Amino acid sequence: MARDNNPMPQSYEFDVLIIGSGAAGLTVALNLPTHLQVAVISKGDISSGATLWAQGGIAAVLDDQDSLENHVNDTLNAGGGLCHEDAVRFTVEHGRESINWLIDSGVDFSRDEQAQYHLTREGGHSHRRIIHAADATGHAVSTTLASQAQARPNIHLMSQRVAVDLITNRKLALPGNACVGAYILNLDDNHVELFRARFTIIATGGASKAYRYTTNPDGASGDGIAMAWRAGCRVGNMEFNQFHPTCLYHPHAKSFLITEAVRGEGGVLRLPDGQRFMDRFDQRGELAPRDIVARAIDHEMKRLGADHLYLDISHQSVDFIKHHFPTIYEKCLTFGIDMAKEPIPVVPAAHYTCGGILSDDRARTDINQLYVVGEAAFTGLHGANRMASNSLLECLVYGRAAAADITRRESDIPAPPPAPDWDESQVRDSDEDVVISHNWDELRHFMWDYVGIVRTTKRLQRAKHRIDLLEREIGEFYSNYRVSNDLLELRNLVTVADLIICSALQRRESRGLHYTLDFPGLLHEAKDTVLTPTTYRSPAP
Ligand code: FAD
Ligand code: SIN
Repeated sequence: MARDNNPMPQSYEFDVLIIGSGAAGLTVALNLPTHLQVAVISKGDISSGATLWAQGGIAAVLDDQDSLENHVNDTLNAGGGLCHEDAVRFTVEHGRESINWLIDSGVDFSRDEQAQYHLTREGGHSHRRIIHAADATGHAVSTTLASQAQARPNIHLMSQRVAVDLITNRKLALPGNACVGAYILNLDDNHVELFRARFTIIATGGASKAYRYTTNPDGASGDGIAMAWRAGCRVGNMEFNQFHPTCLYHPHAKSFLITEAVRGEGGVLRLPDGQRFMDRFDQRGELAPRDIVARAIDHEMKRLGADHLYLDISHQSVDFIKHHFPTIYEKCLTFGIDMAKEPIPVVPAAHYTCGGILSDDRARTDINQLYVVGEAAFTGLHGANRMASNSLLECLVYGRAAAADITRRESDIPAPPPAPDWDESQVRDSDEDVVISHNWDELRHFMWDYVGIVRTTKRLQRAKHRIDLLEREIGEFYSNYRVSNDLLELRNLVTVADLIICSALQRRESRGLHYTLDFPGLLHEAKDTVLTPTTYRSPAP
């Protein structure tokens, strides 16, 4: 790491700049050769992403009764005809080695009575194939990878920093189409720092914070997708926002997930009068893919005017529940719900961004030396609906692929060119932060109401109209005031919401997670929605 002498603003030079410290970012960092100097940036502390909160586990073919072909077919079926089969095969085929890498790194997965790894089941999977650490898999993965990274002298974990924008040759008026670093806001002193790097990796996670109710932690504001879009990368399939069917419904529970593995271990969904209903929607019942279950819950809630339904696993013993779901059991108890004795109140909530920045099987993007890994990426794996527990798998497989590609190329890539410091001479401190918080709330409300589980063209157009107004207001704010985390997140959310709405307006059919009353049928040909910055014309509201 090279550090310039002037105390403020700071500037840094690294071989590899990784923006994001979730499963995706840390997998890349830990698979790079140790002679490379690597910075890993995170908005909050190192465990600030969705990874820490993952519950159910990681899908991979680990049982002799299962096969790669089964996992491929289940993923293709869940994906509603839109998965890229080559990406699915690539991911599934690299599943076992990725899990072995995690085990070798020290992740302590749950075992059964015979000391074999316990595999659970989730929606869409025809076999038990989810390896997990009880109901806190993400915690085990995140803390293990973070401690490995902390022990590596070549990996520099730099927290409390928010990437603002990428720096490209184009922006520097240099020839070529390469990314050479990023401007990054240091939240400790509120100054924007210059990070120059030979390779830059976007591993910033998803954009579910665009919705009022979400299972995601703060920070899932689609920053990487918005930055890459501004820098010139194509994005794909942004209309496919996944809503998790079962989020705890309680006035004081801030979007706490009840893992799908509860259904995998026998949990059933019930109406307020105790009746089961999933069989009316799909023969796989509670273990149908997520889009179907979330839509069924939404339908029944609207039909009955109910503000939640129930998930019931009270037929299992207390010991079974405490063993399999210790975190959820304790959490529910803190809200006065004993899941061993009574059903859990649940509602759907925004959970996962299936689309993202276009990338190939080396995690390369449209811009040279810029990679994308994890939930921010659109690899083609998930199609129109991600199958449960395929996300962490994607982070691992493509994280390792990105590291391998950088390792192969790195001797050919020169040091990054000089770049100017961030220019703050034309901006002042904001005295109108209330505008930011008001716009935040407004965006998340109308995204929930108009761009949610069931859509119509009219609602999408309403949302588009509001986004256009917000875009102008935020653009003005951004040009006049010093940047803050809230302003940056809002600016990115407006961009990402616009991409979601425009993609949804372009899809004139109902497929997977995108369901619209105006086009309830399926088109014969399954096509991705790919938006290109240079030719982008947002549809008139
Ligand atoms: P994240 O883990 O979200 O990490 C993003 C990182 O980027 C963070 O470090 C963040 O600080 C940083 N960042 C973001 N923006 C910026 C910026 N502008 N500047 C600097 N840093 C930035 N998937 C499964 O496969 N199995 C499961 O069991 C499962 N359970 C889940 C449960 C919950 C509650 C949730 C929310 C998700 C779950 N998922 C699960 C999905 C899965 O956890 C995520 O898709 C995956 O962890 C994403 O990993 P990531 O590394 O791409 O991003
Ligand atoms: C869950 O545990 O239900 C979440 C799994 C996932 O999102 O893949």
